Amino acid sequence: MATVERLLHPMHPKADDTGNKVTVVGTGQVGMAAVFSMLTQGVSNNIALVDVMEDKLRGEMLDLQHGCAFMKNARINASTDYSITAGSKVCVVTAGVRQREGESRLDLVQRNTDVLKIIIPQLVKYSPEAVFIIASNPVDILTWVTWRLSGLPRHRVLGSGTNLDSARFRYLLSEKLGIAPTSCHGYIIGEHGDSSVAVWSGVNIAGVRLSDLNPQIGGEQDPEQWRRMHQLVVESAYEIIKLKGYTSWAIGLSLSQLVGAVLSNANSVHPVSTYIKGQHEVEQEVFLSLPCVLGRGGVADVVRQPLTAEERARLHASAKLMHGVQAGIHF
Ligand code: NAI
Ligand code: LAC
Repeated sequence: MATVERLLHPMHPKADDTGNKVTVVGTGQVGMAAVFSMLTQGVSNNIALVDVMEDKLRGEMLDLQHGCAFMKNARINASTDYSITAGSKVCVVTAGVRQREGESRLDLVQRNTDVLKIIIPQLVKYSPEAVFIIASNPVDILTWVTWRLSGLPRHRVLGSGTNLDSARFRYLLSEKLGIAPTSCHGYIIGEHGDSSVAVWSGVNIAGVRLSDLNPQIGGEQDPEQWRRMHQLVVESAYEIIKLKGYTSWAIGLSLSQLVGAVLSNANSVHPVSTYIKGQHEVEQEVFLSLPCVLGRGGVADVVRQPLTAEERARLHASAKLMHGVQAGIHF
């Protein structure tokens, strides 16, 4: 009798499905920050890693496996073969090139579209029921590209969008107000990037709207120039890329939060990139961030967020910008 048989008296075969399998394609800075966040926060204990760099892929897998004694008993697999992704509940895409100093996110669009043309059909083949969360930039346009390439219903294809921008915004609010970021309620919507929109009319602490206290807040005439805070949000990625070459930790935590909302069917509200045509009178077929209710099926609802005329005009400008870039994409 083998040692294992001497050790264990079998009662019932172990279940194979953890019910929370997540695939992450792209084991670079963003992908690994997201995986580490998901594992250490207990969001998932069943991770499939895919990349084209085989040694990096295997190295990340082994390194994470060696950490399992410090985490819930996680299953971590890695391969360049997409068959290991089969049965994923969520597929996260962080693969592709990132902007170098002096580049904007939009400069990456064709290169990363070409990457998605390889990745998305493979993911859909093995996990046709999964929710897809895109992070690769320009994330709003690549979410639209993913929706087009995948043929999936639009509620199951979303981009990390301005979940990260809003987190940056809430941090800056917390610094100014001396209140925890989790208690500073403020949304950045529209493009994850240079044309994002700060919904100043909705910023509140415990339901107290700052715009009721300072009607000019966020405007050019605001004596306190709160609008500078949104400018810092827009500039933050460029600053961090100049300092460390890339951003990773906040986006990794952001992706972990979104995956957690889907897996736990939380029906929690997050600003993510979703199909926006027909909302706020947007006419273009684009994906931009609005506050969305996230659950097991992806985007369950979009919150009908009141916007001022100026906020709506800025959102429309974002939509027109995205639509113009989309028109130049070669599928
Ligand atoms: P990275 O260069 O560290 O990692 C990218 C990974 O993608 C590499 O490991 C590479 O081998 C892999 N890859 C490339 N082509 C592939 C393919 N065909 N199949 C599978 N894997 C492939 O880049 P990093 O810093 O992780 O950024 C990744 C993307 O995430 C970039 O587009 C970046 O702009 C974006 N990003 C998005 C954010 C957001 O808020 N949405 C925030 C930060 C980065
Ligand atoms: C960001 C860029 C890289 O960190 O999308 O916001």
